[in-house]
Amino acid sequence: MDQKDFEMSKDTFRAFYVEEQEDGTFRSEVKQVSVDFLPDHEVLIEVDFSSLNYKDGLSASGNKGVTKSYPHIPGIDAAGTVLEDKSGFFKEGDSVIVTGQDLGSNTSGGYGRLIRVPKDWVISMPEGLDPALAMRYGTAGFTAMYGVKRLQRELISPENGKVLVTGATGGVGSLGVFFLSEMGYEVIAATGKMNKADFLKSIGASEVIHRDEVSQVDPNFLLSRKWHGAIETVGGGMLDAVIRQTDHDGAVACCGNILGHKLESNIYPFILRGVSLLGIDSAICKMPMRLQIWDAIAAMDHSKLPENFTRTVGLEALSGEVQAILQGKQWGRVVVSHKK
Ligand SMILES: NC(=O)c1ccc[n+]([C@@H]2O[C@H](COP(=O)([O-])OP(=O)(O)OC[C@H]3O[C@@H](n4cnc5c(N)ncnc54)[C@H](OP(=O)(O)O)[C@@H]3O)[C@@H](O)[C@H]2O)c1
Repeated sequence: MDQKDFEMSKDTFRAFYVEEQEDGTFRSEVKQVSVDFLPDHEVLIEVDFSSLNYKDGLSASGNKGVTKSYPHIPGIDAAGTVLEDKSGFFKEGDSVIVTGQDLGSNTSGGYGRLIRVPKDWVISMPEGLDPALAMRYGTAGFTAMYGVKRLQRELISPENGKVLVTGATGGVGSLGVFFLSEMGYEVIAATGKMNKADFLKSIGASEVIHRDEVSQVDPNFLLSRKWHGAIETVGGGMLDAVIRQTDHDGAVACCGNILGHKLESNIYPFILRGVSLLGIDSAICKMPMRLQIWDAIAAMDHSKLPENFTRTVGLEALSGEVQAILQGKQWGRVVVSHKK
């Protein structure tokens, strides 16, 4: 029996499997899981690569706001090959991507060698990408590009002024920096990891500032205008501070809740400066926009991302990586390979 047969016999597949214990704690292990564990959907996919996002950290550690019931296989991203499509839309052997929707949240996800998902969640691999490259970007890249597109829709252009990115060394943040700078924007990267300033400059930041410079500000009213647009990935008090330092007719695209789910701010940035707050939900994004975003990602010059931007790990290393992302210690992107 060769390695591949061992990983995926007819009845089982290899997966990073998370279980709830009797005492309410959660444990993960890499093991063979029955194919019957997969839900009954149309498209069966052999996953080659997945990736690590903050939401995967939450799902893998028992956060019931993300994953209601366990046992569960996390992984909100997957790229691989179609084995079977009961709808007839995809052919066996098609190279595909699935990100977001309910994958890895309450539907068995990309940390399993197999997934079975509805046909409408699957997109054909865009020209210019392959499974490994697509997962360098994954949901993080998708969300960052969605943020860029939302800013562009508000006419935030490189000529208008600087754009801020918070959580800049994280997955969404670092790809936000990269995409914006490749599109000609002057990017301010705000980070808690000033020792990663060279990394942030290597992916296009023109200025790197400590995140406290953004968030440790007077809690009242309007503040001096520092940027015209922002991709804000952290939430809470950071989002409020970013909004209050945004220029006239500027816009803030927000996606994260690391600092909590509450937003307390004041009305003045909106009624005295015309600032727009733009929400991003990458999971439920509709198909026409989804395809546009992947095409925009595929068109980037991938060779400009430095070597150290991505680390590739196997399933066995995932529990350590999950702890690191929950503690805010990751930088760049972690790709998960089923071939390791
Ligand atoms: N709405 C959507 O569709 C969507 C999609 C993807 C992600 N998200 C959300 O976006 C956020 C970022 O996701 P991600 O996958 O990019 O996570 P990530 O890779 O862990 O990046 C998050 C970054 O936030 C910063 N950070 C961490 N703890 C912080 C704290 N206590 N105070 C201030 N900054 C802190 C860190 O960057 P620095 O050290 O550089 O400051 C960290 O690297 C998460 O909340 C995630 O759930 C939402």
